[in-house]
Amino acid sequence: MSTHDASHWNQNLETGDFHVDLQHQELFQLVTSLDIAIRDQDMGQIKAIIVFLERYVIDHFDAEETIMKKVSFDGYDYHKAEHDMFEDMVHEMRRMLDTSPARTHLIFAIRKFIDRLVIHIRTVDIRIADIVHSCDHDTAESP
Ligand SMILES: [Fe+2]
Ligand SMILES: [Fe+2]
Repeated sequence: MSTHDASHWNQNLETGDFHVDLQHQELFQLVTSLDIAIRDQDMGQIKAIIVFLERYVIDHFDAEETIMKKVSFDGYDYHKAEHDMFEDMVHEMRRMLDTSPARTHLIFAIRKFIDRLVIHIRTVDIRIADIVHSCDHDTAESP
């Protein structure tokens, strides 16, 4: 399998921010974890994925929003609105986990979430690279 296919991390997705890039790679690894959990019908692992995502949407989105706020980035509002939508999706997954016995709906919701977040990484997060690179440039220029 090519390392440049849609389900894998590759260097074209790099923002240049160490933490953000590490967190994005973790998200791609989650695709594999989810496949294994579904194959093994491992509800413990499915739960662990949701717990992981509950933390992830706080820590990761905060890291990106902090970078954007520092430079008053013009795409902030759109980017933040997408993050809010992803947070809502995670809240909905938690609600399904706690209340619904229909696991197939939950697994479908997790898949949809990850697929959308991968698209977000490719199309929206990639603009963070411009911020990071221009900040690097500024630092390099300063005496
Ligand atoms: Fe991101
Ligand atoms: Fe983002």
